Amino acid sequence: MKISNVLFRVVILLIVAELIVGCQPAAPATEAPAEPAVEEAPAAAEKPFGAADCAPNCTYADMTMCYPQLGAESDWRTANTASFKDESANLGFKLVFSDAQQKQENQISAIRSCIQQGVSVIALPPVVEDGFEAVLTEAHNAGIPVIIVDRSVSADPSLYMSHIGSDMVLEGERAAEEFNKKFPDGAAVLELSGTTGSGAAVGRAEGFRNKLNSNITILDSQTGNFTRAEALPVMQAFLQKYEAGTDFQGIFIHNDDMGIGAIEALKAAGVKPGDLFIVSVDGTRGGFQAMIDGWFQADVECNPLLGPQVAEMALKLMNGETIEREVLTNETVYYPDNAAELLPSRQY
Ligand code: AHR
Repeated sequence: MKISNVLFRVVILLIVAELIVGCQPAAPATEAPAEPAVEEAPAAAEKPFGAADCAPNCTYADMTMCYPQLGAESDWRTANTASFKDESANLGFKLVFSDAQQKQENQISAIRSCIQQGVSVIALPPVVEDGFEAVLTEAHNAGIPVIIVDRSVSADPSLYMSHIGSDMVLEGERAAEEFNKKFPDGAAVLELSGTTGSGAAVGRAEGFRNKLNSNITILDSQTGNFTRAEALPVMQAFLQKYEAGTDFQGIFIHNDDMGIGAIEALKAAGVKPGDLFIVSVDGTRGGFQAMIDGWFQADVECNPLLGPQVAEMALKLMNGETIEREVLTNETVYYPDNAAELLPSRQY
């Protein structure tokens, strides 16, 4: 047999063998044991930021509220502090209270201490607008919700849940309207401003300038830091520089305590009640008395009794409920004509 014939036969045999193997039924695959059917667990509902473990059934007994109060500079502030302490006693939540003595660094330390303690919520009345970004970020990273109370902050709104307080710009506008009514033919006024950089002073100054008629000039503006003690020398310095009644006809004062300090300086300089048109802010008992005595011709209300609203909002946050981003207090303007009648019922 020729070699080519042998090769031909081998190739044919190989092809036939391949075909035979290819036609064999496939070996039964060893069946994997059937997996038990796994029921997909429902994805755990994500808790809203700030919701506590007790949500949705938290009560005030579960709440620890941090209130790093900015100071004790005025009767308004005293009433604000009392409002939070009273609410804590009435509703039964724990209040971690501190007094920063109008110093931002003290407030920031107090907030850090509250973060370490793991409070349920921080309610912050910021002494000034700027400079809280870092500590608010720390609170946010710790999962603690923050409510901004009273004055505003310039920090990114994503770092806090809500702001509850007065519309400071509107207060300044209301004060300006009083001067516009009194001096349709124009006048010069002084401004005794609140703490520099505070939301209250910034807002009131802005509102005042927004609405003041162009024929009324602001002769000078200085801060009295919202206190009687600091307003008195500022008013004395004004009176050395400008003649009351001649150089200026009115004063816009950012709070009643500074107004009371200013009255001391005015009295000492021989100015009489009614010689100047004075508009103040707050509506404290001291402000009402100044209206009764003839010193203030209007007092723009700023309500410090924020404890109940803030406590209610804090509980909602703990329970994962939605809250409003901004809650502005409904306020008014008080006048001397019914000040004596209203004074006995004033709560602050
Ligand atoms: O932020 C509110 C202001 O602060 C009040 O007008 C003033 O009396 C207080 O000190």
